[in-house]
Amino acid sequence: MKEIYLDQGATSYPKAPGVSMAIADYIENIGVSMNRGSYGKAMDVGSMAISLRERACKLFSFQDPSHVIITPGATIALNMLIMPLFQEGGHVITSPLEHNAVRRPLEILLQREENPISLSSFLYDLGLDGDFSPLEKLIRPDTKALIMLHASNVSGEVFPVEAIGKICKEKGIDFILDASQSGGHIPIDFEKMNLSALILPGHKGLLGPQGIGLTLLREDFAKKLSPYLYGGTGSVSESLRMPNFMPDKFEPGTPNIPGIYGLEKALQFIEEIGVETIQAHTSKLHQRFLEGLYEIQGKKKLRIPGKEGRENSGVVSIDFCDTDNALVCSRLASQYGIMTRQGLHCAPMAHQCFGTKESGTVRFSFGFFNRMEEIDQTLLAIREILS
Ligand SMILES: Cc1ncc(COP(=O)(O)O)c(C=O)c1O
Repeated sequence: MKEIYLDQGATSYPKAPGVSMAIADYIENIGVSMNRGSYGKAMDVGSMAISLRERACKLFSFQDPSHVIITPGATIALNMLIMPLFQEGGHVITSPLEHNAVRRPLEILLQREENPISLSSFLYDLGLDGDFSPLEKLIRPDTKALIMLHASNVSGEVFPVEAIGKICKEKGIDFILDASQSGGHIPIDFEKMNLSALILPGHKGLLGPQGIGLTLLREDFAKKLSPYLYGGTGSVSESLRMPNFMPDKFEPGTPNIPGIYGLEKALQFIEEIGVETIQAHTSKLHQRFLEGLYEIQGKKKLRIPGKEGRENSGVVSIDFCDTDNALVCSRLASQYGIMTRQGLHCAPMAHQCFGTKESGTVRFSFGFFNRMEEIDQTLLAIREILS
């Protein structure tokens, strides 16, 4: 049975061409640490990290490679920003669809006894009628930041972040964007979106390996934050404090060097192909899948969360209503070799918003290497399972 991988929202597969070779080449032939030696190979590793930061700048219209932080991934990066930012408490605004990578750190801060934060969430349909004033009304004198996902990992819908960023800038609050489901899928412009921080895992739309991510920090925002993690940086070793310069301030410990080689290769691929090409491809897949589902919907009850009129990053969730979602997911895998994900997808708030908290959904997520035939085969499989 030929397998069809439609769980790209969890992690992308396959990776960009050359990623595994770049990783293997580093491990087999280079193998040395970064910022820890002055010999040639150590310099080569340092240059590769610089190249990765520079590629990120190009891809996300960002000016300063020294403010591109190499992290272990989106979750750790979000914790690294959220925890110090709200050390003294304050007010935060989020979307109603947040992933637990944002919601759980915030929950800890909400529940703590000393300096608990307060949280407001904007309404799901924000901006659909072109009116963003409900968001403005949530901003208070103690609002420190708006932290939100760019695209939902449940419905795939993309929030209008350019308009949201404009408001954050006007009101003087920081705008932290979790681009876990949009990076590499749709164009992102750091400047135009007025971001303070952009958080990206390397292993999803960026088509790199797991265990590495990138976080882009605006200079004044980086200055505002204290480090969350402490340790050796290979620089100013005589000091018992973290360096105050970038990127060392936020990069303690030996990084994931194989990951640096792999992700650099992946960004090179994305640069060559162009995010617009990737987006055009996945939106065709998404469109075809939706059309097929609407035909099925004529005969069977299906619930598909997401607002019409919003862009989609290539994710469709379905509540099969009269048929057990877990059963659909396991039959897709066992009978048809189609890999999807069932449940709440680490985003209980989103399901609360969609009314699918009890049932969960089966999530189909697409990527650049999925083919149209795979979409057709999946629709056929769904029809057979439901008949
Ligand atoms: C919207 C969103 N934010 C954050 C994350 C966390 O990413 P990671 O598990 O790679 O740290 C995910 C992962 O699914 C996600 O979909």
